[in-house]
Amino acid sequence: MSTAEFAGKVVVVSGGASGIGRAILEAFAQQGATGIVADVDTEWGAERADALRSQGYDVTFVKTDVRKADEIAHLFQQVATERNGVDIVVNSAGVGVHKEVIDLTEEEWDFQVDVQLKGVFLMCREAARQMISQKRRGRIINVGSGAAIVARPHAGPHCASKAGAAHLTRVLALELGRHGITVNVVSPGLTDVGPISHYGGATPDYQRNFLPEVPLGRLARPQEIADAVLFFASDRAQFITGQLINIDGGYSAGKLGIRGSHRATPLFT
Ligand SMILES: NC(=O)c1ccc[n+]([C@@H]2O[C@H](COP(=O)([O-])OP(=O)(O)OC[C@H]3O[C@@H](n4cnc5c(N)ncnc54)[C@H](O)[C@@H]3O)[C@@H](O)[C@H]2O)c1
Repeated sequence: MSTAEFAGKVVVVSGGASGIGRAILEAFAQQGATGIVADVDTEWGAERADALRSQGYDVTFVKTDVRKADEIAHLFQQVATERNGVDIVVNSAGVGVHKEVIDLTEEEWDFQVDVQLKGVFLMCREAARQMISQKRRGRIINVGSGAAIVARPHAGPHCASKAGAAHLTRVLALELGRHGITVNVVSPGLTDVGPISHYGGATPDYQRNFLPEVPLGRLARPQEIADAVLFFASDRAQFITGQLINIDGGYSAGKLGIRGSHRATPLFT
């Protein structure tokens, strides 16, 4: 990969203040892109943009709640006026609600679905309008989750919103292809977001239960998720749209524990 593969490109990353979105934003900046952190968290968002600017990267923060159409319209207006438009949009904003369905309140359901499904709709709609009016190619990459395909307890609105967003991605691929816009999903397995995330990632107990089902025997690294996102945004992926790629060490390939002897013992980390 050249040292400035995305020079001259403008990328908006929702959820770019923390965790996987933060790693994606940084990876694009390192490859020469102009980055916009679109996040609801003012403190982390501004800190992230300042830190990257102090390293010489062209990154700004625009406070954006992806549940709110007016804030998203403002985000893209600002990008159009100050950055001459947008080339790549990555939707990584997410929230955690961990309860069984029978214990969920309507507000908790709405909270997660509004961020992770309605938010993806609103961001994609505005991004696509902007890209169409610019009359240049565009790339949209939605950060999914293995939970879209493999259901798990205590994650009803998470599984449902990620499955919905993955299928919405396919609809968008059909509708936006004629405008030269590709739309794809990068679906992480359990990822080691550790100290770069708001919530520090999965609990040790959750990790202990999850890891034996991962053929490659470890968590994903945020950079590995970013690598796949950058691939979908690159010229090498210009004929790929409506697709979902799992970056999960083989977790989604099947049930590893069905024959106990195949449980993962990590040899390479
Ligand atoms: N970490 C994992 O193991 C993992 C695995 C699979 C999928 N994912 C997905 O990756 C994405 C990022 O997760 P993460 O682990 O980096 O989480 P994180 O909490 O570290 O980052 C999420 C970011 O989204 C932002 N956000 C939340 N609500 C928002 C809103 N309404 N508007 C704008 N921004 C908002 C937060 O402020 C935060 O910066 C999520 O969509 C998550 O579902 C994560």
